[in-house]
Amino acid sequence: MRKRVRKAVFPVAGLGTRFLPATKANPKEMLPVVDKPLVQYAAEEAIAAGIEVLVFITGRNKRAIPDHFDKAYELEVELEQRGKQQQLEMVQNILPKGVTCVYIRQSEALGLGHAVLCAEAVIGDEPFAVILADDLISNDDGANCLQQMVAQYDAHGGSVVGVQRVPYEHTDRYGIVSVEDMQQRLGRLKGIVEKPAPDKAPSNLGVVGRYILSPAIFRILKNVKPGAGGEIQLTDAIAELLAVEPVFAYEFEGQRYDCGDKLGYLQATVEFALKHPELGEAFAEYLSSFSKQLKAVV
Ligand code: UTP
Repeated sequence: MRKRVRKAVFPVAGLGTRFLPATKANPKEMLPVVDKPLVQYAAEEAIAAGIEVLVFITGRNKRAIPDHFDKAYELEVELEQRGKQQQLEMVQNILPKGVTCVYIRQSEALGLGHAVLCAEAVIGDEPFAVILADDLISNDDGANCLQQMVAQYDAHGGSVVGVQRVPYEHTDRYGIVSVEDMQQRLGRLKGIVEKPAPDKAPSNLGVVGRYILSPAIFRILKNVKPGAGGEIQLTDAIAELLAVEPVFAYEFEGQRYDCGDKLGYLQATVEFALKHPELGEAFAEYLSSFSKQLKAVV
């Protein structure tokens, strides 16, 4: 019987250099898209996919994340006294009952692979998910990205990396995979390289921030040498893993926004605002009149 994916690792210890100065004292995962921080979208996606234990790999300046998922006594008392019942329920229900949060400090930002390795003691000998909260993925009409990937894991086992087609000129921003026989969005991984130049890229299938990994990855991560950027790269460990166990690439259904990048973040903000139940209509009206002004200028 295959073990169920019950735990998810959220590496949130990166420096967020692309989003400075906003990320100087605040984690980028706390940047809000409309009214919810990125890390909450990621936690909700995981919980909907059946995850029960959320393991955050945190670093300096990341205290806002545990605070966000913790009880906020003073705020709750204030909201209660002011009769703001709806807001009170909102802050009380950030996480459903039965979900546990674990925080592990990565004292130096040595790379995503190192951040994942920090979770070993909590994960143990189980398959687990990794979610990069700055990759915000929506799929309005169907299962969320992690739900889709868990379904693939349940059917095929091994490890699964989430991929999407990226413009060839952007291959140097992603881990790029080569895949054998892609069928119904799933293919067996033959190779993976970190941030290849467009003329060296084996395909334009880029890894985005969703993984389901076998615990065998920990043994490999312990021995992996620093790679691109002097960091311990998860990509390098996956490249070794596929020599010993099946690893699949899954082209998920949904729209992904790179919210670690200012332009991607702005796109997510506009599109999520248009879908927002309270703001959508008013924002659409504003955007439509603003775009007329814009047309006059551009
Ligand atoms: P990124 O490559 O996006 O790096 O990390 P970053 O530092 O967060 O952002 P930029 O590129 O400097 O703007 C990918 C993911 O891995 C985490 C980050 O928090 C992000 O979710 N990470 C990265 C760690 O947790 N620890 C690290 O040492 C490095």
